[in-house]
Amino acid sequence: MSNMLSVAYIAASALFILSLGGLSDQETARKGNAYGIIGMLIALVATAFSASGTRYDILGTVVIPGAIIGAIVASRVAMTSMPELVAILHSFVGAAAVLVGLANYLQPDRSLIGVEATIHQVEIFVGVFIGAITFTGSVIAFGKLRGLISSKPLLLPARHLLNLSILALSVWMGFLFMGVEAPNGLQPLLIMTAIASLLGIHLVMAIGGADMPVVISMLNSYSGWAAAAAGFMLSNDLLIITGALVGSSGAILSYIMCRAMNRSFISVILGGFGTTAAASQSNLSATGAVTTTTVADVVQVINSAKRVIIVPGYGMAVAQAQHGVSALMKHLRDRGVQVRFGIHPVAGRMPGHMNVLLAEAKVPYDLVLELDEINSDFATTDLVLVIGANDTVNPSALEDPNSAIAGMPVLEVWNAKTVVVLKRSLASGYAGVENPLFYKQNTRLLFGDAKQNVDAIAAQLSQNREVNQGSLQAVPEVVV
Ligand code: TAP
Repeated sequence: MSNMLSVAYIAASALFILSLGGLSDQETARKGNAYGIIGMLIALVATAFSASGTRYDILGTVVIPGAIIGAIVASRVAMTSMPELVAILHSFVGAAAVLVGLANYLQPDRSLIGVEATIHQVEIFVGVFIGAITFTGSVIAFGKLRGLISSKPLLLPARHLLNLSILALSVWMGFLFMGVEAPNGLQPLLIMTAIASLLGIHLVMAIGGADMPVVISMLNSYSGWAAAAAGFMLSNDLLIITGALVGSSGAILSYIMCRAMNRSFISVILGGFGTTAAASQSNLSATGAVTTTTVADVVQVINSAKRVIIVPGYGMAVAQAQHGVSALMKHLRDRGVQVRFGIHPVAGRMPGHMNVLLAEAKVPYDLVLELDEINSDFATTDLVLVIGANDTVNPSALEDPNSAIAGMPVLEVWNAKTVVVLKRSLASGYAGVENPLFYKQNTRLLFGDAKQNVDAIAAQLSQNREVNQGSLQAVPEVVV
C-alpha cells in the first residue's frame, strides 16, 4: 500500500512539473492545464485512500460540497474577475495552513521526541505564521481588486517600525512557544497568529494599486510556502513538493513582474518600502484639449495605413471585444496591412490576461509581441489602436518622476504617426494616474464601449470591401 502511495505521489509530482512547463507557453498551455488536473486527481485519490484516511464520512462531507461549489464558482467567473478569485483562493490556502497548524499542535504526535519534536514545533509555528499572513493579505488583496477597499496605499507613519515590531514580537512568541511542551504553548501561538494576521493586512494595505500585480503573484508564492509548511506538519511529501513548486514559481513570477514594472522586489515584499506619500499621490495634471474622432474617420485613417499595431488593455476584457478585434485584424490583413499586437506584461488584471483573450479569439500567436519586442517599432507605425488600455500606455511613467507608475516601462504608442484610443471617457486606469497621452497632438479619442466601436469599424471595413468588390466586378462588364 505504501509503495502504491509513493508511486502515485511521484506520478503526481511529475505531472505538476510538466504542468508548469506546459503553462509557460501559450501553445502548450492547454496540455499543461490537463497535466495539472490529472496530477491533482491522482494526489486526491491517493491521499484519500492512504493509511491515514479512515473517516470517509467526514471527508465526503467536506470534499463533495467543496468540489461542487468550486466548480460552480470557477465556471461562472468572468475573466475580468479571475484575479479576485485567485486572491480569495490563496486566502483559503493560508487559512488551511493556520488550521492544520493549530490542529496539529492540539493533538501532538507522541511518537516524536527530542530533536524531532522540536523540529515539528518549529514547523507548526512557521507554518501558522506564513499561513496567517497569506490569509489576511489575500483577503485585503481581494478587497482591493474588487474595489471594496481603496487601491491607494495606506501609508501609516512609522509603518516600517510597526512591521519590525510585529516581527520582533512574533519571534519572542516563538521563544515562549518553544519553551513549553505541547499543548501548553497555545497562548503564544494564538497571539502570534493574531499579530501575523495584522501584519498581512498592513503589508498589503501599504501597497498601491499600481503594484497589485506583484502582490497577487507574491501571495501566490506565500500560499505555496504555506502549503509546503502544512506538508511538513502532516509529513506529506507530495504537499511539500507541490507547495515548493507553487512557492518558487510564484516568487520567480513576482521577480519577473517587478522587472517588467521597474519595481524593487524587496520594496514590494516589505509592503511598499520606499513608497512616499508624495510619490503615491503625485500626478502632473494632464490638461489641454483632446481631439475626438468617429468610426468613419478611423476607417479613413485605416484605409491609408500600411503598418498597424493594436494595443489591448483591461477595457478590451471588460467589453469582451476580443472577437471583434480579431475580426478587425482579419480585415486589415486581407487588405495587405501589417497588423501586430503589443502586449504589456501587466495589461489587464492578471499575468497573460491579454494573451489568453487573444488566443481565445484565434489571433495567431506570432502576431502577439511583448513590450520589449515591439516598443521600438512604434516610430515606424502608421496607426496604433489602443483598445481599453490606459496605464500601460501612459507617458507619465517616463516623464513624471513623482507619478505612482514612475519608472514602469510602458508601450510608447505616442511615437506612431496616429494613435486612436478607444475608451468610454477620460477616466484614469487602475493606478489612478491621469494620462497625458490623451492630450497629445497625434492622439484621437474614440469614446464609447470598445466592443461596439471595434465591431462598427470592422463592419464598415467589410461593407467598403463589398462595395469595392462589387465595383471591381462591374468594371470588366462595362469594358466588354
Ligand atoms: P487600465 O489602466 O486599468 O485601464 C483600462 C481602461 O479601460 C480604463 O481607463 C477604462 O476607461 C477602459 N475601459 C473600461 N471598460 C471599457 C469598455 N467597456 N470599453 C472601452 N474601454 C473601457 O488597463 P491597462 O492599461 O490594461 O493596465 C492594467 C492596470 O492594471 C495596470 O495599472 C496594472 O498594474 C494593473 N493590474 C494588473 C494586473 C496584472 S497581473 N495584469 C493585476 C492587477 C492590477 P473608461 O472608464 O474611460 O472606459
